[in-house]
Amino acid sequence: MFKIVEWKSNTVVMIDQRILPAKEKYLVLRDYKAVAKAIKDMVVRGAPAIGVSAAMGFALGAIKVKTNDKKVLLRELKKITKVLAATRPTAVNLFWALNRMNDFVEANAELSVEALKKALVAEAKRIHKEDIEINKAIGKNGGRLMKKNWTVLTHCNAGALATAGYGTALGVIRGAIEAGKNVKVFADETRPFMQGTRLTAWELKKDKIDVTLITDNMAGHMMSKGLIDAVVVGSDRIASNGDIANKIGTYMVAVLAKEHKIPFYVAAPLSTIDMAIKDGTEIPIEERDTKEVTHWAGKRVAPAGINVLNPAFDVTPAKFVAGIITEKGVATRPYRAAIKKLFTK
Ligand code: MRU
Repeated sequence: MFKIVEWKSNTVVMIDQRILPAKEKYLVLRDYKAVAKAIKDMVVRGAPAIGVSAAMGFALGAIKVKTNDKKVLLRELKKITKVLAATRPTAVNLFWALNRMNDFVEANAELSVEALKKALVAEAKRIHKEDIEINKAIGKNGGRLMKKNWTVLTHCNAGALATAGYGTALGVIRGAIEAGKNVKVFADETRPFMQGTRLTAWELKKDKIDVTLITDNMAGHMMSKGLIDAVVVGSDRIASNGDIANKIGTYMVAVLAKEHKIPFYVAAPLSTIDMAIKDGTEIPIEERDTKEVTHWAGKRVAPAGINVLNPAFDVTPAKFVAGIITEKGVATRPYRAAIKKLFTK
Protein backbone atom coordinates (compact mmCIF):
# COMPACT_ATOMS: atom_id res chain seq x y z
CA MET A 1 0.00 0.00 0.00
CA PHE A 2 1.25 3.50 -0.79
CA LYS A 3 2.21 5.87 2.03
CA ILE A 4 0.68 9.35 2.09
CA VAL A 5 2.98 11.13 4.52
CA GLU A 6 5.70 9.58 6.62
CA TRP A 7 8.47 10.55 9.03
CA LYS A 8 11.70 8.95 7.76
CA SER A 9 15.19 9.56 9.23
CA ASN A 10 14.51 13.17 10.13
CA THR A 11 12.79 14.01 6.83
CA VAL A 12 9.11 14.10 5.83
CA VAL A 13 8.32 11.91 2.83
CA MET A 14 5.13 12.50 0.83
CA ILE A 15 3.59 10.97 -2.24
CA ASP A 16 3.21 13.77 -4.81
CA GLN A 17 -0.59 13.86 -5.26
CA ARG A 18 -0.35 16.45 -8.05
CA ILE A 19 0.96 13.90 -10.52
CA LEU A 20 -1.13 10.89 -9.54
CA PRO A 21 -2.19 8.60 -11.11
CA ALA A 22 0.36 9.08 -13.93
CA LYS A 23 3.35 8.77 -11.59
CA GLU A 24 3.82 7.37 -8.08
CA LYS A 25 6.61 9.64 -6.95
CA TYR A 26 7.71 10.44 -3.39
CA LEU A 27 9.17 13.80 -2.35
CA VAL A 28 11.69 13.99 0.49
CA LEU A 29 11.22 17.23 2.46
CA ARG A 30 14.13 18.34 4.62
CA ASP A 31 12.84 21.52 6.29
CA TYR A 32 9.58 23.02 7.50
CA LYS A 33 9.45 25.56 4.67
CA ALA A 34 9.43 22.71 2.16
CA VAL A 35 6.55 21.10 4.09
CA ALA A 36 4.63 24.41 4.08
CA LYS A 37 5.17 24.73 0.32
CA ALA A 38 4.03 21.12 -0.21
CA ILE A 39 0.77 21.86 1.65
CA LYS A 40 0.21 25.11 -0.26
CA ASP A 41 0.99 23.52 -3.64
CA MET A 42 -1.27 20.49 -2.93
CA VAL A 43 1.48 17.89 -2.99
CA VAL A 44 -0.47 16.76 0.06
CA ARG A 45 -4.13 17.70 0.47
CA GLY A 46 -7.26 16.62 2.33
CA ALA A 47 -7.99 18.00 5.79
CA PRO A 48 -6.55 15.23 8.03
CA ALA A 49 -3.47 14.73 5.81
CA ILE A 50 -2.82 18.48 5.94
CA GLY A 51 -3.02 18.32 9.76
CA VAL A 52 -0.61 15.37 10.01
CA SER A 53 1.80 17.06 7.57
CA ALA A 54 1.71 20.31 9.55
CA ALA A 55 2.54 18.44 12.78
CA MET A 56 5.46 16.75 11.04
CA GLY A 57 6.56 20.07 9.53
CA PHE A 58 6.50 21.59 13.02
CA ALA A 59 8.67 18.75 14.42
CA LEU A 60 11.02 19.00 11.44
CA GLY A 61 11.34 22.74 12.01
CA ALA A 62 12.08 22.14 15.70
CA ILE A 63 14.88 19.62 15.19
CA LYS A 64 16.57 21.88 12.64
CA VAL A 65 16.89 24.84 15.05
CA LYS A 66 20.57 25.01 16.01
CA THR A 67 20.50 26.15 19.62
CA ASN A 68 20.82 25.02 23.22
CA ASP A 69 18.84 28.01 24.39
CA LYS A 70 15.19 27.19 25.09
CA LYS A 71 14.11 30.79 24.49
CA VAL A 72 15.59 30.70 20.99
CA LEU A 73 13.81 27.41 20.24
CA LEU A 74 10.46 28.77 21.47
CA ARG A 75 10.87 31.91 19.37
CA GLU A 76 11.62 29.81 16.28
CA LEU A 77 8.62 27.56 16.95
CA LYS A 78 6.37 30.63 16.82
CA LYS A 79 7.79 31.50 13.41
CA ILE A 80 7.40 27.92 12.19
CA THR A 81 3.76 27.89 13.35
CA LYS A 82 3.07 31.12 11.48
CA VAL A 83 4.53 29.86 8.21
CA LEU A 84 2.69 26.51 8.37
CA ALA A 85 -0.60 28.18 9.38
CA ALA A 86 -0.46 30.48 6.34
CA THR A 87 -0.68 27.64 3.82
CA ARG A 88 -4.39 26.81 3.45
CA PRO A 89 -7.22 28.54 5.33
CA THR A 90 -10.26 26.24 5.22
CA ALA A 91 -9.26 22.85 6.65
CA VAL A 92 -9.34 23.40 10.41
CA ASN A 93 -7.24 20.24 10.97
CA LEU A 94 -4.20 22.34 10.03
CA PHE A 95 -4.80 24.70 12.97
CA TRP A 96 -5.88 21.83 15.23
CA ALA A 97 -2.54 20.05 14.63
CA LEU A 98 -0.49 23.22 15.16
CA ASN A 99 -2.40 23.95 18.37
CA ARG A 100 -1.80 20.41 19.58
CA MET A 101 1.97 20.74 18.93
CA ASN A 102 2.12 24.13 20.65
CA ASP A 103 0.07 22.85 23.62
CA PHE A 104 2.52 19.96 23.85
CA VAL A 105 5.44 22.42 24.05
CA GLU A 106 3.67 24.29 26.83
CA ALA A 107 2.80 21.15 28.77
CA ASN A 108 6.42 19.95 28.63
CA ALA A 109 8.11 23.18 29.70
CA GLU A 110 10.55 21.32 31.96
CA LEU A 111 12.20 19.43 29.08
CA SER A 112 15.66 20.39 27.82
CA VAL A 113 16.02 21.59 24.23
CA GLU A 114 17.22 18.19 23.03
CA ALA A 115 14.54 16.27 24.94
CA LEU A 116 11.80 18.58 23.68
CA LYS A 117 12.90 18.17 20.06
CA LYS A 118 12.78 14.39 20.43
CA ALA A 119 9.40 14.52 22.14
CA LEU A 120 7.97 16.73 19.36
CA VAL A 121 8.98 14.17 16.74
CA ALA A 122 7.27 11.48 18.83
CA GLU A 123 4.14 13.65 19.16
CA ALA A 124 3.95 14.19 15.38
CA LYS A 125 4.31 10.46 14.81
CA ARG A 126 1.55 9.89 17.40
CA ILE A 127 -0.81 12.23 15.51
CA HIS A 128 -0.07 10.23 12.34
CA LYS A 129 -0.78 6.88 14.02
CA GLU A 130 -3.90 8.14 15.77
CA ASP A 131 -5.31 9.45 12.48
CA ILE A 132 -5.27 5.98 10.94
CA GLU A 133 -6.97 4.51 14.04
CA ILE A 134 -9.57 7.30 14.01
CA ASN A 135 -10.35 6.65 10.35
CA LYS A 136 -10.84 2.96 11.03
CA ALA A 137 -13.30 3.84 13.83
CA ILE A 138 -15.13 6.21 11.44
CA GLY A 139 -15.21 3.35 8.93
CA LYS A 140 -16.76 1.00 11.47
CA ASN A 141 -19.37 3.53 12.63
CA GLY A 142 -20.26 4.57 9.08
CA GLY A 143 -20.09 1.06 7.68
CA ARG A 144 -23.07 0.17 9.88
CA LEU A 145 -25.19 2.80 8.13
CA MET A 146 -24.54 1.39 4.68
CA LYS A 147 -26.83 -1.33 3.38
CA LYS A 148 -25.90 -4.38 1.31
CA ASN A 149 -25.49 -3.66 -2.41
CA TRP A 150 -25.78 0.10 -1.99
CA THR A 151 -24.18 2.43 -4.50
CA VAL A 152 -22.65 5.43 -2.78
CA LEU A 153 -21.79 8.72 -4.45
CA THR A 154 -18.76 10.60 -3.16
CA HIS A 155 -17.32 13.97 -4.07
CA CYS A 156 -13.63 14.97 -4.08
CA ASN A 157 -11.19 12.61 -2.35
CA ALA A 158 -11.79 11.85 1.32
CA GLY A 159 -9.85 8.64 1.07
CA ALA A 160 -6.55 7.23 2.27
CA LEU A 161 -4.83 9.96 0.25
CA ALA A 162 -6.61 12.70 2.21
CA THR A 163 -5.59 11.27 5.59
CA ALA A 164 -2.71 9.34 7.14
CA GLY A 165 -4.41 6.25 5.69
CA TYR A 166 -7.79 4.45 5.23
CA GLY A 167 -9.80 7.64 4.72
CA THR A 168 -12.96 9.20 6.16
CA ALA A 169 -15.71 8.99 3.50
CA LEU A 170 -13.83 6.20 1.72
CA GLY A 171 -13.12 4.77 5.18
CA VAL A 172 -16.90 4.32 5.50
CA ILE A 173 -16.91 2.46 2.17
CA ARG A 174 -13.99 0.31 3.34
CA GLY A 175 -15.72 -0.27 6.69
CA ALA A 176 -18.91 -1.41 4.94
CA ILE A 177 -16.99 -3.75 2.65
CA GLU A 178 -15.06 -5.18 5.62
CA ALA A 179 -18.43 -5.79 7.27
CA GLY A 180 -19.36 -7.95 4.28
CA LYS A 181 -21.57 -5.44 2.45
CA ASN A 182 -21.09 -5.29 -1.27
CA VAL A 183 -20.96 -1.50 -1.62
CA LYS A 184 -20.18 0.18 -4.93
CA VAL A 185 -18.98 3.75 -5.47
CA PHE A 186 -19.76 6.53 -7.93
CA ALA A 187 -16.99 9.14 -7.86
CA ASP A 188 -17.59 12.72 -9.01
CA GLU A 189 -14.64 13.97 -11.07
CA THR A 190 -14.50 17.13 -8.86
CA ARG A 191 -13.68 20.07 -11.08
CA PRO A 192 -11.41 21.97 -11.21
CA PHE A 193 -8.62 20.06 -9.42
CA MET A 194 -9.97 16.62 -10.37
CA GLN A 195 -9.45 14.90 -7.01
CA GLY A 196 -12.22 12.43 -7.95
CA THR A 197 -10.79 11.52 -11.34
CA ARG A 198 -7.17 11.41 -10.31
CA LEU A 199 -7.23 10.31 -6.66
CA THR A 200 -10.52 8.65 -5.63
CA ALA A 201 -10.71 6.60 -8.83
CA TRP A 202 -7.04 5.64 -8.44
CA GLU A 203 -7.09 4.55 -4.81
CA LEU A 204 -10.39 2.66 -5.05
CA LYS A 205 -9.32 0.86 -8.21
CA LYS A 206 -6.02 -0.04 -6.55
CA ASP A 207 -8.02 -1.47 -3.63
CA LYS A 208 -10.27 -3.39 -6.06
CA ILE A 209 -13.37 -1.51 -4.90
CA ASP A 210 -16.04 -1.19 -7.61
CA VAL A 211 -15.90 2.45 -8.73
CA THR A 212 -17.58 4.32 -11.58
CA LEU A 213 -16.29 7.76 -12.49
CA ILE A 214 -18.79 10.45 -13.51
CA THR A 215 -18.45 14.15 -14.27
CA ASP A 216 -19.87 16.51 -11.65
CA ASN A 217 -22.83 17.49 -13.81
CA MET A 218 -23.99 13.86 -14.07
CA ALA A 219 -24.81 13.45 -10.36
CA GLY A 220 -28.45 14.66 -10.63
CA HIS A 221 -29.11 12.45 -13.64
CA MET A 222 -27.73 9.38 -11.82
CA MET A 223 -29.91 10.14 -8.79
CA SER A 224 -33.02 10.61 -10.93
CA LYS A 225 -32.37 7.21 -12.51
CA GLY A 226 -32.29 5.59 -9.06
CA LEU A 227 -28.63 4.66 -9.37
CA ILE A 228 -27.47 6.26 -6.08
CA ASP A 229 -28.55 5.01 -2.64
CA ALA A 230 -26.51 7.36 -0.43
CA VAL A 231 -23.95 10.16 -0.57
CA VAL A 232 -20.90 10.07 1.71
CA VAL A 233 -18.39 12.94 1.69
CA GLY A 234 -15.63 14.23 3.94
CA SER A 235 -15.30 17.71 5.37
CA ASP A 236 -12.68 20.40 5.85
CA ARG A 237 -14.43 22.17 8.69
CA ILE A 238 -17.66 21.52 10.55
CA ALA A 239 -19.24 24.39 12.49
CA SER A 240 -20.70 23.79 15.97
CA ASN A 241 -24.22 23.82 14.46
CA GLY A 242 -23.41 21.04 11.95
CA ASP A 243 -22.91 23.20 8.82
CA ILE A 244 -20.13 21.59 6.83
CA ALA A 245 -17.49 22.95 4.47
CA ASN A 246 -16.22 20.58 1.84
CA LYS A 247 -14.88 20.67 -1.71
CA ILE A 248 -16.68 23.02 -4.07
CA GLY A 249 -19.70 21.26 -5.54
CA THR A 250 -20.61 19.38 -2.35
CA TYR A 251 -23.51 21.77 -1.61
CA MET A 252 -24.99 21.08 -5.04
CA VAL A 253 -24.81 17.32 -4.41
CA ALA A 254 -26.47 17.73 -0.98
CA VAL A 255 -29.40 19.70 -2.43
CA LEU A 256 -29.85 17.12 -5.18
CA ALA A 257 -29.74 14.31 -2.61
CA LYS A 258 -32.51 15.98 -0.61
CA GLU A 259 -34.70 16.32 -3.72
CA HIS A 260 -34.24 12.60 -4.42
CA LYS A 261 -34.68 11.55 -0.75
CA ILE A 262 -31.17 10.07 -0.66
CA PRO A 263 -29.31 10.29 2.69
CA PHE A 264 -26.34 12.66 2.61
CA TYR A 265 -23.68 11.68 5.19
CA VAL A 266 -20.52 13.49 6.23
CA ALA A 267 -17.58 11.48 7.62
CA ALA A 268 -14.94 13.36 9.60
CA PRO A 269 -12.79 13.14 12.73
CA LEU A 270 -13.50 15.37 15.75
CA SER A 271 -10.41 17.39 14.75
CA THR A 272 -12.47 18.69 11.79
CA ILE A 273 -15.12 20.16 14.10
CA ASP A 274 -14.56 23.81 14.93
CA MET A 275 -16.45 24.47 18.17
CA ALA A 276 -15.28 28.09 18.09
CA ILE A 277 -17.60 29.02 15.23
CA LYS A 278 -21.35 29.15 15.53
CA ASP A 279 -22.24 28.35 11.92
CA GLY A 280 -20.93 27.88 8.40
CA THR A 281 -20.92 31.59 7.56
CA GLU A 282 -17.77 31.91 9.69
CA ILE A 283 -15.79 29.32 7.70
CA PRO A 284 -13.05 30.96 5.60
CA ILE A 285 -13.26 29.79 2.00
CA GLU A 286 -9.99 29.46 0.12
CA GLU A 287 -9.82 31.15 -3.29
CA ARG A 288 -7.36 29.40 -5.57
CA ASP A 289 -5.48 30.33 -8.73
CA THR A 290 -7.90 31.11 -11.57
CA LYS A 291 -5.67 29.06 -13.89
CA GLU A 292 -7.27 25.94 -12.39
CA VAL A 293 -10.47 27.06 -14.19
CA THR A 294 -9.13 28.71 -17.34
CA HIS A 295 -6.58 26.03 -18.20
CA TRP A 296 -6.86 22.36 -19.01
CA ALA A 297 -3.77 20.14 -18.70
CA GLY A 298 -1.58 23.22 -18.74
CA LYS A 299 -3.27 24.73 -21.82
CA ARG A 300 -5.54 27.77 -21.81
CA VAL A 301 -9.10 26.78 -22.78
CA ALA A 302 -10.92 29.98 -21.75
CA PRO A 303 -10.53 33.30 -23.55
CA ALA A 304 -7.72 35.47 -22.20
CA GLY A 305 -8.97 38.23 -19.89
CA ILE A 306 -12.21 36.44 -18.91
CA ASN A 307 -13.55 37.04 -15.39
CA VAL A 308 -13.10 33.95 -13.24
CA LEU A 309 -13.93 32.87 -9.70
CA ASN A 310 -12.37 29.83 -8.07
CA PRO A 311 -13.58 29.15 -4.52
CA ALA A 312 -12.13 25.80 -3.46
CA PHE A 313 -14.89 24.92 -0.95
CA ASP A 314 -18.57 25.51 -0.27
CA VAL A 315 -20.76 25.22 2.81
CA THR A 316 -23.63 22.74 3.07
CA PRO A 317 -26.17 23.78 5.72
CA ALA A 318 -26.76 21.21 8.48
CA LYS A 319 -30.39 20.76 7.37
CA PHE A 320 -29.18 18.73 4.38
CA VAL A 321 -26.98 16.40 6.45
CA ALA A 322 -28.45 13.02 7.51
CA GLY A 323 -25.60 12.32 9.93
CA ILE A 324 -22.04 13.31 10.83
CA ILE A 325 -20.00 10.12 11.17
CA THR A 326 -17.08 10.47 13.58
CA GLU A 327 -14.77 8.16 15.52
CA LYS A 328 -16.99 8.73 18.58
CA GLY A 329 -20.25 7.87 16.89
CA VAL A 330 -22.78 9.39 14.51
CA ALA A 331 -24.25 12.81 15.30
CA THR A 332 -27.76 13.48 14.05
CA ARG A 333 -30.22 16.36 14.39
CA PRO A 334 -30.36 18.54 16.45
CA TYR A 335 -26.66 18.94 15.66
CA ARG A 336 -25.57 21.54 18.20
CA ALA A 337 -26.39 19.23 21.13
CA ALA A 338 -25.29 16.04 19.36
CA ILE A 339 -21.90 17.53 18.42
CA LYS A 340 -21.32 18.80 21.95
CA LYS A 341 -22.03 15.31 23.25
CA LEU A 342 -19.40 13.76 20.94
CA PHE A 343 -16.68 15.69 22.80
CA THR A 344 -17.72 14.24 26.15
CA LYS A 345 -17.51 10.58 24.99
O1 MRU B 1 -8.55 20.95 -1.71
P1 MRU B 1 -8.44 19.60 -1.06
O2 MRU B 1 -8.11 18.50 -2.03
O3 MRU B 1 -7.51 19.62 0.14
O4 MRU B 1 -9.91 19.32 -0.52
C1 MRU B 1 -10.18 18.12 0.13
C2 MRU B 1 -11.59 17.93 0.50
O5 MRU B 1 -12.42 18.78 0.28
C3 MRU B 1 -11.92 16.68 1.26
O6 MRU B 1 -13.21 16.24 0.96
C4 MRU B 1 -11.83 16.98 2.77
O7 MRU B 1 -10.59 17.53 3.09
C5 MRU B 1 -12.05 15.78 3.60
S1 MRU B 1 -10.66 14.70 3.50
C6 MRU B 1 -10.84 13.37 4.53
